[in-house]
Amino acid sequence: MKITIAGTGYVGIVTGACMAETGHAVTCYDIDSIRIKKLQDCIMPIFEPGLEEMLIRNRERISFTTDYKEAYRDSEAVIICVGTPEKRDGSANLKCVYAAVQQAVECAQRDCIIVIKSTVPVGTGDNLDKAVRLKNTGRHFEIANNPEFLSQGTAVRDTMKASRIVIGVNSPEAEKVLKDIYDRLGQEYVVTDRRSAEMIKYASNDFLALKISYINEIANLCDFIGADVEDVALGMGLDPRIGNRFLKAGIGYGGSCFPKDTKALHWLANFNDCELKTIKAAIDVNENQKIKLIKKARKYYDSFRDLTVAILGLTFKPGTDDFREAPSLQNIPILLEDGAKIKAWDPVGMDNFKKAYPEEISYCGSIEEALKDADICFILTEWPEIVLMDVSRFQLLMRKPIVLDGRNCFKLEEAEGNGFIYESIGRRIIGQGSIAGEHLLRGERAV
Ligand SMILES: NC(=O)c1ccc[n+]([C@@H]2O[C@H](COP(=O)([O-])OP(=O)(O)OC[C@H]3O[C@@H](n4cnc5c(N)ncnc54)[C@H](O)[C@@H]3O)[C@@H](O)[C@H]2O)c1
Repeated sequence: MKITIAGTGYVGIVTGACMAETGHAVTCYDIDSIRIKKLQDCIMPIFEPGLEEMLIRNRERISFTTDYKEAYRDSEAVIICVGTPEKRDGSANLKCVYAAVQQAVECAQRDCIIVIKSTVPVGTGDNLDKAVRLKNTGRHFEIANNPEFLSQGTAVRDTMKASRIVIGVNSPEAEKVLKDIYDRLGQEYVVTDRRSAEMIKYASNDFLALKISYINEIANLCDFIGADVEDVALGMGLDPRIGNRFLKAGIGYGGSCFPKDTKALHWLANFNDCELKTIKAAIDVNENQKIKLIKKARKYYDSFRDLTVAILGLTFKPGTDDFREAPSLQNIPILLEDGAKIKAWDPVGMDNFKKAYPEEISYCGSIEEALKDADICFILTEWPEIVLMDVSRFQLLMRKPIVLDGRNCFKLEEAEGNGFIYESIGRRIIGQGSIAGEHLLRGERAV
């Protein structure tokens, strides 16, 4: 089938690549000419494992363009993968979705299906449908919803082996075309009306966000009452009704989806006079959780002025170069404002982060370089390089070996006896009292 993908971000490129892999002829269109030029030259504008190889393998079946007239003219299916960022009031900004649909409708020379893969509020498909009909183009356009559930870092695998394909359609014709698109993946379909499909996406993401915030609150309580949240999560997760995924305590969720999707659903519910109290709680807990390490650090230092802070991990999770809504964006400004000197390391996220903080941070080529002479270390992303590092480096390299781990990267036994203070989330503190004499810290507070 001839398919056009609108938007070549994390969802668009992966969707395009996977559809080419399954034999479709794919054209990817984006308004961002720099991004398209890179893709034409086979340079990946994002970091996503397995993507580059897949694109190279399917070069014959996939093309990239900034010419929307060309992109939409002959397409049998247009898949909208543009961004739906958060507005100031928390609602979803649909400007790009409407713009892309409008261009597709104006340029298509044949009947076609317009599939909304971007995450959109319930009712968007119906509104687009009305708007498209009013245009009276003489051609028939079906509007369908097909939410995306991929996770950055595992996006290619998630798409090729999706847990389910949700098809939100209001006609059997649209259902048939969507099934033809996905036919070769052989995955399970959930066929619903458009509104239910739109709701499935938000309800799924918000449930996962809620699960994370739940375990984070339990972790915070564990800190006070002396239980170990990792053991608690293990004991809970073995119950198949609960499951062990998204039950890892930490400094909160980030990324381009959970934060905005929780706020958008909460906004939509309020707008309909039906507050979602659980979602509100998930949002509030997460906001607080992101600065948990700063609060822990205050025990050691009243102020960060002139202290060297090592930051390990800038992206919102491992496996991606995306730092949208990452805890680094909450923590770094606070530290800088308080006068800290920041040395940061991230295996793939530094180039992107530099665009936001070009001058204020020293970017380091290795974990060791970041740790050298640091007065405290914040671990914000559980990159494998951090999880697998030799923990004796902390004591050897840091001026004051205090490690605050927001992702519970190390086993407590591993941290024990290595001469550094180790505070993680929802677990006992290791090494408190081990830094004596010359290591007494500023602000009159000893450890
Ligand atoms: N990133 C994820 O993990 C993920 C997962 C599931 C669903 N989603 C949803 O998918 C959508 C896209 O997310 P993303 O992370 O890929 O976004 P992104 O910001 O990475 O990419 C969006 C792309 O759309 C392009 N664009 C904007 N207007 C356009 C237009 N009129 N025509 C063509 N291109 C246009 C932008 O230039 C950009 O390259 C969002 O609604 C998001 O909520 C994202």
